[in-house]
Amino acid sequence: MTSTTDQGRVLTTALAHEAAQIFDLLGYLKQRQIQVESALEKAIAVTYPEKIYEAMRYSLMAGGKRLRPILCLATCELAGGTVDMAMPAACSLEMIHTMSLIHDDLPAMDNDDYRRGKLTNHKVYGEDIAILAGDGLLAYAFEFIALQTRQVNPAQILQVVVRLAKAVGAAGLVGGQVVDLESEGNPDVTLETLSFIHRHKTGALLEASVVCGAILANAPDPDLQRLSRYAQNIGLAFQIIDDVLDITATQEELGKTAGKDLQAQKATYPSFWGIDESRRQANQLVLEAKAEIAAFGEKAVPLMAIADYITARKH
Ligand code: IPE
Ligand code: IPE
Ligand code: MG
Ligand code: MG
Ligand code: MG
Repeated sequence: MTSTTDQGRVLTTALAHEAAQIFDLLGYLKQRQIQVESALEKAIAVTYPEKIYEAMRYSLMAGGKRLRPILCLATCELAGGTVDMAMPAACSLEMIHTMSLIHDDLPAMDNDDYRRGKLTNHKVYGEDIAILAGDGLLAYAFEFIALQTRQVNPAQILQVVVRLAKAVGAAGLVGGQVVDLESEGNPDVTLETLSFIHRHKTGALLEASVVCGAILANAPDPDLQRLSRYAQNIGLAFQIIDDVLDITATQEELGKTAGKDLQAQKATYPSFWGIDESRRQANQLVLEAKAEIAAFGEKAVPLMAIADYITARKH
């Protein structure tokens, strides 16, 4: 026999899933993108030496889905906080992410000519300035979050700074990029290594985006853990779909050159499993992610819809 609490939970879960289906995700994403773009626009002023600020702004303001800031704002709200509390952190996440894209595209790394529908940073400003633009964005992200966050206790801000630093450093994104590069051209890469690459180069920053929003709202530990499991699942699904889209989408859709992974002999899920099975795995991870947050009930609707968007997206 199921208890009243169990029945209540089943009902809440069912309602949350149903509400997620009628939720206007595209309208929500658009509105959030506009809010984030407007905050980013104001975040970096151009001053002497103009070239570096222009290079930083060139990539930061080139568009992009703004998924990491949107996740951060959504979890802060889920945990009872406000958009204002999380906006500086959200902007910092996008600065860090943009730094990682500028560096990922460099000739010494993936050697890409297009990003976000425009020429890559080094193609416009040269490799020297592109490296420095990435450095500038990374450092400024931490200054920005520490100086601009309002209505949050310093203890929470400090926790967010530590989480972000860890997510972007050798224990996170940087470590994942190293193994990604080392695995190029190696046909014997194991599934374990592949999963390490994805969880670190992409998953770590996505997880930080989700968890930091909740930390700013002072969410209790069990909630942080639940959100972190949600984020690990969508993080892995996100990179699986990035790898699938590299094969199935056009340059026009992606805003970056298609077919690069095959050309560079990258270790990817499609190279390991094929496209259909990779999509199946990503869908399964999204289901698991949604199950993790179902207990939050209706408050979880935006995060549920974003999870679906990870696999449904076309770019
Ligand atoms: C691309 O990230 C790099 C990866 C981590 C796979 P996004 O797909 O989020 O890129 P933008 O921000 O929308 O341009
Ligand atoms: C990106 O992985 C990871 C980071 C930028 C940290 P990819 O190399 O697959 O990203 P894209 O496909 O160039 O956007
Ligand atoms: Mg790469
Ligand atoms: Mg790349
Ligand atoms: Mg890719």
